[in-house]
Amino acid sequence: MQIHKHEAIIVGAGGAGLMAALYASKGGTDVAVVSKLYPTRSHTGAAQGGISAALGNLDDDAPIYHAYDTVKGGDYLTDQNAAMVLADNAIDAVIELEHMGLPFDRTPDGKISQRRFGGHTSNFGESLVRRACHAADRTGHMILQTLYQQCIKQKVNFFDEFQVVDLIINKDKCVGVVAVDIGTGEFHIYHGKAVLFASGGWGRCWEVTSNAHSLTGDGAAVVLRKGIPLQDMEFYQFHPTGIYRMGILITEGVRGEGGVLLNSRGERFMERYAPSVKDLASRDVVSRAIYDEVEAGRGIKGNNYVHLDIRPSTVNRFFAEEGRPESDYIDDAYVEKKLPDILDFCRTYLGVDPVKEPMPVQPTAHYGMGGIPTNIDAEVVTDENWAVYPGLYAAGETACVSVHGANRLGTNALLELVVFGRRGGMKIAEDVKQMEWTDLPSDAGKAMESEFKRIRTSKGKTKSHELRQKMQNMMMRKVGVYRTEETLSEAVEELKEMKQLYYTDLTIDDEGSIFNTDLMEAWELGCLLDLAEVTAVSALNRTESRGGHSRDDYKKRDDENWLVHTLVHSDSGDVQNPNYQINIKKKVDLSLAEKDDKFIPKERVY
Ligand code: FUM
Repeated sequence: MQIHKHEAIIVGAGGAGLMAALYASKGGTDVAVVSKLYPTRSHTGAAQGGISAALGNLDDDAPIYHAYDTVKGGDYLTDQNAAMVLADNAIDAVIELEHMGLPFDRTPDGKISQRRFGGHTSNFGESLVRRACHAADRTGHMILQTLYQQCIKQKVNFFDEFQVVDLIINKDKCVGVVAVDIGTGEFHIYHGKAVLFASGGWGRCWEVTSNAHSLTGDGAAVVLRKGIPLQDMEFYQFHPTGIYRMGILITEGVRGEGGVLLNSRGERFMERYAPSVKDLASRDVVSRAIYDEVEAGRGIKGNNYVHLDIRPSTVNRFFAEEGRPESDYIDDAYVEKKLPDILDFCRTYLGVDPVKEPMPVQPTAHYGMGGIPTNIDAEVVTDENWAVYPGLYAAGETACVSVHGANRLGTNALLELVVFGRRGGMKIAEDVKQMEWTDLPSDAGKAMESEFKRIRTSKGKTKSHELRQKMQNMMMRKVGVYRTEETLSEAVEELKEMKQLYYTDLTIDDEGSIFNTDLMEAWELGCLLDLAEVTAVSALNRTESRGGHSRDDYKKRDDENWLVHTLVHSDSGDVQNPNYQINIKKKVDLSLAEKDDKFIPKERVY
């Protein structure tokens, strides 16, 4: 096995990984980025509509309003210290990206252009605010390109198309990772003083998802298998507007630019669910409203989708009803300029031209609020006392800071990547200076070699893509937007059976070594099954409804018993037969509420 030695190993080359690598490297650390994708193909590129920062370029805004929206949007499960760090660091982070060369859209007087997004308000909910800084509808893509260029300039070492499959621990410290070179099938060891996971989410647990095929939660699963807990896994966000059946994201920026959701009767139904902010309520609220409309028989042509309408004639009609000035009215050219990728997706994949027809949309599995628990410096913490795991860090979607609480606001994901990626990189640069090297254990990588041999030579009857499809379909029906004790208990049982098949009855067609995607996908399926299981177990445990976790049998939020984070871990030491335990004692940080009663948990009304 080839061994590579670098002080910091960053797993994943999306926005969080690149930002961490950049800042660790600028701090004098020798950094290696190990990524299963070529960096600019990372999923950060799929985040379209914007990155939030209270620049106040077009409306009155301030970081404290941003923090308030983040806490309220998260249904008060957000750690308030983290929300304040996010909102405070946002301005600096966006200006830094601008100075690195990110081509933001501009206002007529040359400032960074900002648009409306769900749940973004001024003066503690008083009015909608334009806070989402954007580069047309390609904001994430531009962030990736910009940060990758900076990393190349900084001479960061990249190992592209190396898939990390295990974490190496010695003397209770994280000392590296095991990776497979996808091109050759060879195993490599990356020996480091610090390892930061920025490996993204696990949207591929569900059938309809905005997530790319690569979003299989590898980092979170690898960490979980070492007995380290995952936090708040029951909170999974469905973005309200995915392309019908395909799940591809239609940015919330469409509604930010004035687009409206319509049911089969042509009604703007969000007026009933969120009378003040309507289509720009937070995502959990809008996704549930779409489900309720469909359930009430008001889906388009009796199907489980609604229309999203950005035709200027429709938008201007509603602007007129709302009394907005004519200077706000839009035309075809404006839509073409502000939403080029969305138009392209709809024209290409649906044969629908959004400037002439409405788009068919349905909620799509989008983002995990939970993940590997960290503090605000991206250090992994393992219990309710915030004990730090030496040498282990996480940032981005795979981490749970918890800055999004029970539901993330749109555009806070791109912001989280740059803010906490940067803080993680800086912390690593500081820490590695004091750390001694710890040796690799003598058996490093051996368990993974055996596991891959097992998968490669399995001669059962179950093909991994069939099992994956079965899991995704079941997760959609039983661990989706709405859940009950019955559906969740069934999900837990069914996932156990699926895992039994995975370990005893798998078969794969390709026994080769070179670009064996059959083998890699089979291994990824194991990660997805683990994450699906902890999601269902955590959701069954939480007997209340909050944010993205909506229990039909416990409809109310219950602050008395549930203003706490879920920590789930396995204490069996056996990957095939985990024994998941839930410790619910990690309290939510309410530090802002201690100073200002606006931040005290209260009913969320939009
Ligand atoms: O709707 C969007 O453009 C998605 C952005 C996000 O998830 O933050």
